[in-house]
Amino acid sequence: MTEKAISIVGTGYVGLCTAVGFASKGYKVVASTHDSEKAKLINEGTPPFFEPGLEELLRKVVKKGWLRCVLDREEAVTNSGLTIISVSTPSEPDGSINLRFIKRSAREIGEALHKKDAYHLVVVKSTVVPGTSENLVKPIVENSSGKRCGADFGLCMNPEFLREGAALYDTLHPDRIIIGEYDEKSGSTLEKLYRDFLVEDMPPTVRTSLSAAELIKYANNAFLATKISFINTIANICEKIPAADVGTVAKAIGLDERINPLFLNAGLGYGGSCLPKDVKALIAFCRGLDYVPILLKAAEDVNNTQPYRAIELAKEHIGGLKDKRVAVLGLAFKPNTDDMREAVSVKVINKLLEEGAKVVAYDPKAIVNARHIFGDKIEYANSSTECLKNAECCIVVTEWEEFKQLEPKDFVGQMKTPLVIDGRRIYDQREFSRKLNFAGIGLSAQGSYPSSI
Ligand code: UGA
Repeated sequence: MTEKAISIVGTGYVGLCTAVGFASKGYKVVASTHDSEKAKLINEGTPPFFEPGLEELLRKVVKKGWLRCVLDREEAVTNSGLTIISVSTPSEPDGSINLRFIKRSAREIGEALHKKDAYHLVVVKSTVVPGTSENLVKPIVENSSGKRCGADFGLCMNPEFLREGAALYDTLHPDRIIIGEYDEKSGSTLEKLYRDFLVEDMPPTVRTSLSAAELIKYANNAFLATKISFINTIANICEKIPAADVGTVAKAIGLDERINPLFLNAGLGYGGSCLPKDVKALIAFCRGLDYVPILLKAAEDVNNTQPYRAIELAKEHIGGLKDKRVAVLGLAFKPNTDDMREAVSVKVINKLLEEGAKVVAYDPKAIVNARHIFGDKIEYANSSTECLKNAECCIVVTEWEEFKQLEPKDFVGQMKTPLVIDGRRIYDQREFSRKLNFAGIGLSAQGSYPSSI
């Protein structure tokens, strides 16, 4: 086995993109999953989910024999010098993290290491709460392998920051590498791998303790979530006063280098498999520390109610929604993905149904996933034009590029009563307001100042 052989446990976004990323640079990668359907698809060069650019690169590396997917952890581990754990860490009903897949992976890696003589590096890439690598993964691998961490095998915690929709780019061009290390040898082994993998693209590297690396991941996502809830709070204020647009406010404060313009897009809130789950998990983790993270709870509260602003805006314009035909543009939690985990669209549509509306929805990629969630409770359209046909209100939930291309005449031409609620602020308020009924997040309507002014 060569230094360039690595194994990856878990084939979700992070696992598969990491596997394909390393394989694309000539590493021999063995990915492993317990899902035989998934393994079959991957070995045929077909990603089990949509991610831009992934299919093409996966096909190439599978064809070249640089990546294969197996069901047997032992085969993966013994054929490599390093194993990356990137299994999912779902939420418990109380928001705390569920570590069952981490435990199982650690045990299986340990059992494989039992049969191996050479030094092996175990790398935890999954998002796990502080203490997990040292207090859970290390003892499980030690017990099931009969070997000692630091002597026979090494241990690192190496969080990732890749974004769905740009996952491959982020894998190949990370903005930083965080290495939490059990000991110097573990950290240096992993840093060497990244230097070899990224060469001149090697970004700044932070080497730290296992638990600090675990916290860095949560701090990162919690900060992003807080930034979004902050700008949504400002958006809600804009809606209540005259002549204010949160876009202008965001642009202006974003010019302050200490704030920066990114992640200041006001809208219907954050969704996805990471931000909501990680904020919840960090809050739950703090319970065990007997600390109440008020700021994080506030960010979460703002996000829980923000999707409903779309419904309130619709009702302000057309009164009740009972029996009204409402077109929902966008189902995925963000553009360029088919992922609907914690998608804002789910909250919006459920509320519309509760209000008695007839919902017709369209998304360029997520219809298949939407059918699993809503079944025949809503109608599905094959295009935005079909979706808008005879609708009395349209809510834009996801900012897909193709929705940005729509013009007022596209809505006026199809809808029964053209009312557009721009939940992602993709349209020009002045242009749209002239030609149809229009409302958007963070745009003042007929607001007034408090009586004290
Ligand atoms: C997020 C982080 O951005 C990644 O760095 C991290 O690696 C990943 O989680 C993870 O932990 O695996 P992702 O979930 O792919 O990535 O999506 P984001 O681009 O962060 O968007 C999350 C949500 O925030 C989306 O619903 C998006 O619409 C919303 N958002 C984002 C806003 O409402 N406003 C913004 O300005 C930006």
